[in-house]
Amino acid sequence: MSPQNQFDVLVVGSGASGLNLALELAAFARVAVITKSELHESNTYYAQGGIAAVLDEHDSVQSHIADTLNAGAGLCDEDVVRFIVEHGREAIEKLAGYGVEFTTQTDASGNAEYHLTREGGHSHRRVVHAADATGQAIETTLEDRIREAQNVTVFEHHNAVDLWCDRDAQGRSKRVTGLHALNTQTGEVRAFSAPFVVLATGGVSKVYLYTSNPDICTGDGIAMAWRAGCRVANMEFTQFHPTCLFHPQAKSFLVSEAVRGEGGLLKRPDGTRFMDDFDPRGELAPRDIVARAIDHEMKRLGADCMYLDISHKGQAFIEEHFPMIYANTKKYGFDMAKEPLPVVPAAHYTCGGVMVDMHGRTDVKGLYAIGEVTYTGLHGANRMASNSLLECLVYSTAAAEDIRARLHRAKLEAETLPPQTPPWDESNVTGSDEQVVISHNWEELRRFMWDYVGIVRTDKRLARARTRIDMLQAEIVEYYGNTHVTSDLLELRNLAVCAELIIRSAQARKESRGLHFTLDYPDLDDSHTPTPTTLMPKRFPATNEAS
Ligand code: FAD
Ligand code: SIN
Repeated sequence: MSPQNQFDVLVVGSGASGLNLALELAAFARVAVITKSELHESNTYYAQGGIAAVLDEHDSVQSHIADTLNAGAGLCDEDVVRFIVEHGREAIEKLAGYGVEFTTQTDASGNAEYHLTREGGHSHRRVVHAADATGQAIETTLEDRIREAQNVTVFEHHNAVDLWCDRDAQGRSKRVTGLHALNTQTGEVRAFSAPFVVLATGGVSKVYLYTSNPDICTGDGIAMAWRAGCRVANMEFTQFHPTCLFHPQAKSFLVSEAVRGEGGLLKRPDGTRFMDDFDPRGELAPRDIVARAIDHEMKRLGADCMYLDISHKGQAFIEEHFPMIYANTKKYGFDMAKEPLPVVPAAHYTCGGVMVDMHGRTDVKGLYAIGEVTYTGLHGANRMASNSLLECLVYSTAAAEDIRARLHRAKLEAETLPPQTPPWDESNVTGSDEQVVISHNWEELRRFMWDYVGIVRTDKRLARARTRIDMLQAEIVEYYGNTHVTSDLLELRNLAVCAELIIRSAQARKESRGLHFTLDYPDLDDSHTPTPTTLMPKRFPATNEAS
């Protein structure tokens, strides 16, 4: 293998968590950022509302913690919540130091301060933002810093296929040593080696037919970690964002929760409000409640959508606060300054994922995971708005510090490098003569996940989904074993693994809690202390020596 594919750290993914980590590592390590599309393409780029952090003098860390625990419906890990919330200010200051321009206002004494917006579940204004395109401001700034960083090599259009691990006689991973990645422009699969690999690959909302997420969100990191022997937790908790634009061409364009935070009202087609019938917090109830209320009203009335109305705030206010949403919805023929926007819920965020400790370490030695790909314990059964970017930033810094200490120790102890990743073996595969298998299965998978494993579940629907995923898995595994890899095939394979993990987790939870709602067990089971749903892979590492 050519020496240019040997690094200290391989970072897979270039959203907020991957790029922030790579920047922190660049000071002391040779880093490769491997990303499957262009560098900026990520969920991060599309984030709208902002980042939650305690910056207002009337707000408090304790209040942010309490709101997060409340939204998480008894399943948050309080130590993790505290750790993340306490690092909020530092995370914002670091981004501002890199050059991110957050929206400011002038305080009573004439000084500039961050404008803080409000979102569901937060009892204070605490969301720092760059108008309504916060993610773009963060991602493009981090991209600029990465492009100029020494020590960082970027591999765009490289789709990571699988991790490579040193294994024991039973096939259990002893430690990660690298990975293979498909160059999607040349079709070549390259081998990369490093003693540390960090998964920053985002969530798996693309497993649902309707999603606010871009095409890259296919759960690759969750599936790769699972295959490598990592535990995965809380996969039943998919968050559906209540308000995506309802329009055939809009591909679930998000209308930020900040629109409700600034006074937007949800209405039925006849113009009447309904949120107060579901929760005393009305439009600012946590997302699970608002999404279920919209779903309920749509089904009850046989309506295609509900409506979000902020026209009463007037054109100047709307253009100042929501310039991107205003311009984009206008492209689809709506003027939100004059009329309500048609909205529907869509899959938005994966609360569960690869289990990590407070340094981002997984169950496999040398393998880390950060950001939406993980289960840290922050979100519990329901993520509070704008806590995700915060988690990305805090955990990427924590993982970088841990890797720094370990690299330093390895150098002091003159530890030998792990074995190199061997070249990709394609000797037993052929080209596909049946591409339709992939396109058909993509469509089928995403449709039955939407219909059977969506906002409202039942035992029967989950059992139907389980039968279908078992069949699809068998077909995909067979196809994968015999065919040259393509991006579509890799993503389908990973989506199928994640779909299975979601269905199994949903079947295991015999209650309704947070985002998991089932008609067969409509109530919270508080007869015992709630625990996360943990799934154990077949080849769980014997020593679990990650820590
Ligand atoms: P991402 O930003 O999703 O990045 C994942 C990266 O991994 C991408 O670069 C992708 O190409 C790469 N990748 C994936 N698989 C592979 C592979 N196999 N090989 C190589 N590369 C791979 N959260 C908030 O806190 N506040 C908000 O205001 C907010 N608004 C949102 C609005 C929208 C429309 C959406 C979709 C999400 C929003 N979220 C928000 C959620 C938040 O944006 C994400 O949770 C967060 O950005 C995830 O960051 P990440 O670094 O973990 O992953
Ligand atoms: C939004 O702006 O509504 C998205 C915020 C989030 O997902 O945290």
